[in-house]
Amino acid sequence: MTAPITSGPAEPSVLLDLGGRTALVTGAAGGIGHACALRLAAAGAKVRAVDRDAEGLAALVERAGGLAGAVEARVLDLTDLDAAEAVAAGADILVNNAGLQLVRPIEEFPPDVFHTVLTVMLEAPFRLIRGALPHMYAQGWGRIVNISSVHGLRASAFKSAYVAAKHGLEGLSKTAALEGAPHGVTSVCVNPGYVRTPLVEKQIADQAAAHSLPEERVLTDVLLKDSAIKRLVEPDEVAEAVLYLCSPQAAFITGTSLALDGGWTAH
Ligand SMILES: NC(=O)c1ccc[n+]([C@@H]2O[C@H](COP(=O)([O-])OP(=O)(O)OC[C@H]3O[C@@H](n4cnc5c(N)ncnc54)[C@H](O)[C@@H]3O)[C@@H](O)[C@H]2O)c1
Repeated sequence: MTAPITSGPAEPSVLLDLGGRTALVTGAAGGIGHACALRLAAAGAKVRAVDRDAEGLAALVERAGGLAGAVEARVLDLTDLDAAEAVAAGADILVNNAGLQLVRPIEEFPPDVFHTVLTVMLEAPFRLIRGALPHMYAQGWGRIVNISSVHGLRASAFKSAYVAAKHGLEGLSKTAALEGAPHGVTSVCVNPGYVRTPLVEKQIADQAAAHSLPEERVLTDVLLKDSAIKRLVEPDEVAEAVLYLCSPQAAFITGTSLALDGGWTAH
């Protein structure tokens, strides 16, 4: 008798095991990076947590006590691009997550801030990938997950630097996917809508000023205007998707972008 054809996975998908892997997460002191570092460590990875915020990293290391893997803090400002490239050496998994935002019309946007946003959110990821690839290629396995945004796929007014950096990151990620494929290295973007993190909380006042709205209307009238699901996405929901993309099970997912946007880009 022939075995029935089933559409389910051969193994239960809860077995996402990153034991023996070293995972570098940038911006690990903040909302999404913090959640990713904890989730990867819970799956057994040894996490190299990079951020310029030493206090936030210390809190992360404390929270990670008792997990299957471990978290090691590396205090680093990613505008130091040589240091960014060096810190990625030997990583099996790279999560490019650090970011910053300024909401301002182009004619008022300070050029030095534009430069910093592009440096941290595009040039540093390039240098981190560059630093990580030799080890990944040598062993024939690697995972690169780039935390992009809906703003890697769509623009919003008053976010010129952020939208430019995220669109650039999408291109960098696809190129890394093409080059990495023969070496067992995948590269993908994850594209959240608005996540409940300090980065979003901090921009509510700026958005209110830019759109001439009271702060209490920013969430409904601006941030969630195009989202079919009318709530912020949680950092843990993003971390769960990142863990899957870092797993052996995600070997065929590369050069693409996974939107966690509550239906925003369905418009
Ligand atoms: N919060 C959202 O709604 C949202 C939505 C889509 C995408 N994202 C993306 O997710 C990523 C994380 O955002 P978040 O919301 O967790 O922000 P966050 O502000 O909570 O965390 C960002 C982290 O990056 C670190 N960082 C910034 N500049 C740095 C530098 N020069 N060197 C080292 N570290 C630096 C900060 O110290 C902070 O810990 C960003 O790339 C952001 O663009 C966020």
